[in-house]
Amino acid sequence: MNKVLVTGGLGFIGSHTVVELQNEGFEVVVIDNLSNSSIEVLEGIHRITGTKPHYENIDLRDKSAVQYFFKKHNDITGIIHFAASKAVGESVENPLLYYENNINSLVYILQELIHLTQSNFIFSSSCTVYGQAEKMPITEDATVQPANSPYGNTKQIGEEIITDVAKVSNINSILLRYFNPIGAHSSAEIGELPLGIPQNLVPFITQTAFGLRKELSVYGNDYPTPDGTCIRDYIHVVDLAKAHVIALQRLLKKQNLENVETFNLGTGRGSSVIEVISAFEKVSGQKLPYKIVGRREGDVIAAYANTDKANTVLGWKAKSSLEEALSSAWNWEQKIRS
Ligand code: WQD
Repeated sequence: MNKVLVTGGLGFIGSHTVVELQNEGFEVVVIDNLSNSSIEVLEGIHRITGTKPHYENIDLRDKSAVQYFFKKHNDITGIIHFAASKAVGESVENPLLYYENNINSLVYILQELIHLTQSNFIFSSSCTVYGQAEKMPITEDATVQPANSPYGNTKQIGEEIITDVAKVSNINSILLRYFNPIGAHSSAEIGELPLGIPQNLVPFITQTAFGLRKELSVYGNDYPTPDGTCIRDYIHVVDLAKAHVIALQRLLKKQNLENVETFNLGTGRGSSVIEVISAFEKVSGQKLPYKIVGRREGDVIAAYANTDKANTVLGWKAKSSLEEALSSAWNWEQKIRS
């Protein structure tokens, strides 16, 4: 049985990926320092799959802890690296937290992998690396623009580090550039954990609908888009999780054509903020209170994926609609508040 390490495996995308890995028969080991997740997520995974992954609370900024972990688990055949700080706004206020956490943890893991005869490494990247791309939908060869936040910069630097290391080692890697992950597992046993005031649109919508927030603030409706609000590619987190399993299997079967491959993971459909609100009102049967306020610093006008490469080369395609993803997010919100 293939043994896979998932760092950040109790996080939003990480936990959904652990479920899909277990569904495919992988033995999963999770590292998570619980800085942005809760140990309860482990129980949620257990309730869904019937298997509790082996879990270790390790802070990947602790180099000796990382070294000890890889000595102990020297039979790991693949790593999916989610563990990172990911709040754009927080990264602007506290850049060193982001550079230390997101870069050092990546370097310490790679330093263990370069000694292995062969290792398979999936890196959690983001469409943020494109900034405001000139052409929609965005392809993988679109220019990587100067990052507009330290968070985005850590993703760009991470990709560059992996590319350089892969040239001089036996590391095979796939960089997955996510668009906007939303939703929750159909069981509502795991989902996006609401720690503090949500920065992202969909958890703010579901908390508003539940009555935890007075109203949603829509950050600007004067953009050059059909309804004036920003456009994004909202992808169901389970579709995204499945893509990680497929990417890992590609490396395990040595089907990769280069030692670093890059894929955009989106639906290929762009939706404006107003369209998301309308879709949510449809699936929830509730009117959503919102007001238009000023633009948010750093927001791009539009970002949605050209998914041809993931569809043809990876053999993966997102299946869920925006409505299905929003419905799962709403079910999750109601479940955790019950
Ligand atoms: C989506 C749209 C906002 C909140 C970020 C990161 C990206 C990835 C996903 C980690 C924008 C609008 C939002 C609100 C609003 N994270 N909005 N009111 O900024 O596209 O992407 O999260 O990998 O890297 O950059 O997602 O959900 O914050 O915003 O009007 O209360 O919703 O202006 O147009 P974003 P988001």
